[in-house]
Amino acid sequence: MQENNNWNTDLLWSTLLSMISAIVLLSITVIVYFGFRNDIDKFFNRPKYDKLELAKRTTERASIQIDEWDRVEKGIHVKTGMVYDKNFKFIKANCLSCHSSKMITQNRATRQGWHQMIRWMQKTQGLHDLGDSEVNILDYLSTHYAPKDTGRRPNLDIDAIEWYVLDLN
Ligand code: HEC
Repeated sequence: MQENNNWNTDLLWSTLLSMISAIVLLSITVIVYFGFRNDIDKFFNRPKYDKLELAKRTTERASIQIDEWDRVEKGIHVKTGMVYDKNFKFIKANCLSCHSSKMITQNRATRQGWHQMIRWMQKTQGLHDLGDSEVNILDYLSTHYAPKDTGRRPNLDIDAIEWYVLDLN
């Protein structure tokens, strides 16, 4: 009698445990499904393209990126943040391969100053000979990135200063 009783409780427990596991599993499934429903639906309903269509879309996307590269807003070339004019193409072709356009836009100089920076880069940083483009590049830089009157004290003109030795005795 005692044996039989034990057997019954065991069965009851295992049934109960199975039911609880089933409920837990079901809830997890439901939660996961509702949580990721959008992704799951998207995956099963994803558009299917044949090779030709795929190639067309890739080309389209590439041309959008090229358009993006050349986008100009209010006279500013958006991708580089530089002023856009007819000479910009010379900058694009010669000045943006080694460093970002920031290196240029954060600087201001006279035509002579820009000329010196170009020579410095050619001597020490491996900048190539700019050939005929140099004139256009200097036109561009000295027009758009000339020294600005910012109210800041101008740099000291080292050559114009009359130096003297401080007499400490
Ligand atoms: C061959 C690579 C190369 C090319 C091309 C190049 N530069 Fe540079 N440039 C450099 C390097 C390297 C530096 C130093 C970077 C640093 O200090 O971190 C530099 C620095 C500069 C600076 C900062 C100078 C300073 O005194 O702080 C300016 C401005 C500049 N470049 C403008 C230009 C312009 C304008 C052109 C196009 C005519 C150009 N660069 C093309 C390599 C190049």
